[in-house]
Amino acid sequence: MTTTDDRTGAAPTPTGPLSKIDYSERIPNNVNLAEDRRLQRALEGWQPKFLDWWKTLGPALPTKDVYLRTAIAVGRDGWAHFDHVPMEEYRWGIFLAEKNPDRVVSFGKHKGEPVWQEVPGEHRADLMRLVVVQGDTEPASVEQQRVLGNTAPSIYDLRNLFQVNVEEGRHLWAMVYLLHAYFGREGREEAEQLLKRNSGDLDAPRILGAFNEETTDWLQFFMFTYFTDRDGKYQLGTLKESAFDPLARTCEFMLKEEAHHMFVGTTGVQRTVERTAELMKEHGTDDIWQHGGIPLSVIQKYLNFQFSVSMDLFGSEQSTNAGNYYSSGLKGRWQETRRKDDHVLLDDTRTMRYVADGEIREKEVPTLSALNLDLRDEYVADCANGVRRWNQALEDAGLEERLVLPHEGFNRRVGVYANHHVSPAGEVLTDEQWAAQVDGWLPSAEDRQAVADLMVPEYEYGKFAGWIAPPQTGINDQPVEFDYVHLAEEGLA
Ligand SMILES: [Fe+2]
Ligand SMILES: [Fe+2]
Repeated sequence: MTTTDDRTGAAPTPTGPLSKIDYSERIPNNVNLAEDRRLQRALEGWQPKFLDWWKTLGPALPTKDVYLRTAIAVGRDGWAHFDHVPMEEYRWGIFLAEKNPDRVVSFGKHKGEPVWQEVPGEHRADLMRLVVVQGDTEPASVEQQRVLGNTAPSIYDLRNLFQVNVEEGRHLWAMVYLLHAYFGREGREEAEQLLKRNSGDLDAPRILGAFNEETTDWLQFFMFTYFTDRDGKYQLGTLKESAFDPLARTCEFMLKEEAHHMFVGTTGVQRTVERTAELMKEHGTDDIWQHGGIPLSVIQKYLNFQFSVSMDLFGSEQSTNAGNYYSSGLKGRWQETRRKDDHVLLDDTRTMRYVADGEIREKEVPTLSALNLDLRDEYVADCANGVRRWNQALEDAGLEERLVLPHEGFNRRVGVYANHHVSPAGEVLTDEQWAAQVDGWLPSAEDRQAVADLMVPEYEYGKFAGWIAPPQTGINDQPVEFDYVHLAEEGLA
């Protein structure tokens, strides 16, 4: 029996109609690629470049094979198969959710009209930009996480890292398919660029800031999968509503895979907190470095950092572009069809916060102008759930300390707070006040070094590094001590 993604990462049981994925093809797909020779040849031309990129900038740790999930059919809830696979033989392919022939546009000025199966000329540039920006984040995170395998706290965690990596690679395939299939020569050129820009590259960096930050250690990886992959989930959620049906169906299926990435983040931070709580109890202090744990105050600083850089990914609170994308049907709101309003929003207003005269104030703005903020609010509410869960672990351990999400204005580079210093509690600060306290709020170089010093690999099946608690269950109902990864050098595993 499989259970839900949230708890174990197992594939959900399919409930909808199944469309089989053709694995006899060089590029596995459920889009009848064989019937479009031109497109097939173009994608087969891109495939070796992708594999080169994977070899050069994908996971650095040599492995023989990894217990991976591969999509084999696309039902309403997706369905997958687990097996040991050499990572370079993972079947990256093109999987779109089932087509709903009755689907109509659910928002904006085209509301009620049939969805588009082709790109309308007037929206071509905007749609291509949306696909490119989304596509750019997928390989970026693989690059950021390239060397993490060298310090994995367990074989179980190593497997989860690689699962996230191969699926981000597949999400790149998903976007490249759209570029090749719907955007002609320009689309093919953009697909090349997706492999040429690289995370942190001085000359050709990735498009968005958070995807050029280094993932220095596993605590940051867990924070990244919790906060930054969750931004991805919300962006995909808006594209899943798109009037451009191939984009909507692509994103719908990506969201199925994305659930496991959230799981890795939520449980990864949770297990770190559990171990920290245990050591704090045992030694009666937060200063547990010497006992091999990560102090809760440092976990809080990592949380502050990753939350704030992920908030920047939503863009400015007020954005004419976002309003136009909405009105023209390119990008909806999170769970658009469940919203109880007219889905056009021409006359609606909402409040937003901003900074003036050294204090945070509120003003009334047109809802259409503040759709980035609408999405960000949904995201923040979702982020708070994980924090509650982590705090439960502290409470269960009988500790008074708690983790908190910092104020939305803390450490921001984008939007209304960008030129202000705001404390995690939400006070507007002077430059001097900020400089005097910032080391207590964001990880310092010493904090990162101390965490890095704890990152020693643990490759023995069923064993875990000292700074993190084991998970409650394994992946796909396998035991925690299962041989999830076979390393290249047999002696190590
Ligand atoms: Fe992704
Ligand atoms: Fe992801």
